[in-house]
Amino acid sequence: MKLLLIGSGGREHALAWALAKSPKLTKLFAAPGNAGIADLAEIAQIDVTDHQAVITFCKSNAVDLVVVGPEAPLVAGVVDDLDAAGIKAFGPTKAAAQLEGSKAFTKGVCDEAAIPTAAYGRFTNREDALAYLKKEGAPIVVKADGLAAGKGVVVAMSLAEAEDAVKACFDGSFGDAGAEVVIEEFLDGEEASFFVLSDGTNALALATAQDHKRAHDGDEGPNTGGMGAYSPAPVMTQALIDRVMADIISPTISTLAARGTPFKGVLYAGLMITSDGPKLIEYNTRFGDPECQVLVMRLKSDLLELLVDSVEGRLGTAHAEWHDQAALSVVMAANGYPATYKKGTEIRGLEQMGSDVLQVFHAGTKRADGRLLANGGRVLNVTALGNSVADAKEHAYDAIGKIDWPDGFCRSDIGWRAIAREAQNED
Ligand code: AMP
Ligand code: GLY
Repeated sequence: MKLLLIGSGGREHALAWALAKSPKLTKLFAAPGNAGIADLAEIAQIDVTDHQAVITFCKSNAVDLVVVGPEAPLVAGVVDDLDAAGIKAFGPTKAAAQLEGSKAFTKGVCDEAAIPTAAYGRFTNREDALAYLKKEGAPIVVKADGLAAGKGVVVAMSLAEAEDAVKACFDGSFGDAGAEVVIEEFLDGEEASFFVLSDGTNALALATAQDHKRAHDGDEGPNTGGMGAYSPAPVMTQALIDRVMADIISPTISTLAARGTPFKGVLYAGLMITSDGPKLIEYNTRFGDPECQVLVMRLKSDLLELLVDSVEGRLGTAHAEWHDQAALSVVMAANGYPATYKKGTEIRGLEQMGSDVLQVFHAGTKRADGRLLANGGRVLNVTALGNSVADAKEHAYDAIGKIDWPDGFCRSDIGWRAIAREAQNED
């Protein structure tokens, strides 16, 4: 099969790595790609926001399947446009991607299907939103409705903070994404991510993961796209997974199917494991980044076959096999990230790295004159397998010690919660 992979992050390098292992793959194109992806794929010189250009490229290169990594092209309807042109694409349609594109949409699905989630109100004007805040009190969570690159959520510990967040939304801080505001009950518990594949009717459980969103050790500092992740998430027992499938995932898939907008692709449930059981915080309609990096390290099955089963409606009989080992990924970011940072600094020491148990997935990188240069905020994802999360962490940080990049930093404590749990279980 000939594939076109859309995206340029660590997630897409990880996908390219897993897809490249498939005996079914004959040619991999990628756009826009990065330096790591360019080692595995031919970079297609197309603007992926120009759907007609993507279609023309696929037709002239006989591409059999387009794999869409990030959410923006999904929400923009790239899968619908490819489909209309007779080109198969992995990922949800624009309508189904509303599960990520609109928090109010997801809340509506939860209401319709009685899915456990935080109580909420949705508002299109400031006065009603502020009145609701007064009634409910803090702690409380304020969310811009639309896509805001992970920055549209304020977990407010005080009423004043919540009021400021509401005002910022209606003052246009998030553009159109903040025209509607969702205000939610604060959920207390441990967070976990759960990934499933769906073909519109069936849902195949993939794996669990946890990530670290804050920039600094101890989960302090500003929010980022994610500074590290590991899989599996020890908090997600099989009993909890079964409960999430029955109470959250299956009703979502059947509600979207019944509405005539079936969900195909990766459904990524952000969960809070509360004392009342698992509750849905949010959906994403794609693999997580860096969660994808740890998932592909643990996946034994052929990823390409699974993606094709999703597109062609065959997940009812599909299985995904996983290594029992844990995987952990540490993000190396440019100094200053997530605020301002320099591009173009040189990275050395990666040449000899790479095996079945250790991969350095590239995010913002490019090659110039044979040198590897940082080209974004999040730059590398050092990802290792191990017999436990603690063991995987040791392997990942050993490799980081060999990377020569004075202009980058990483957190030193990725996996701390899981490692504490492992240590407790040994006692
Ligand atoms: P989101 O951008 O929707 O992923 O939210 C960002 C983060 O805010 C989540 O990962 C949670 O840590 C936190 N969060 C979102 N909603 C809630 C909630 N209802 N209660 C507590 N924390 C929340
Ligand atoms: N790591 C969080 C995300 O991909 O949304």
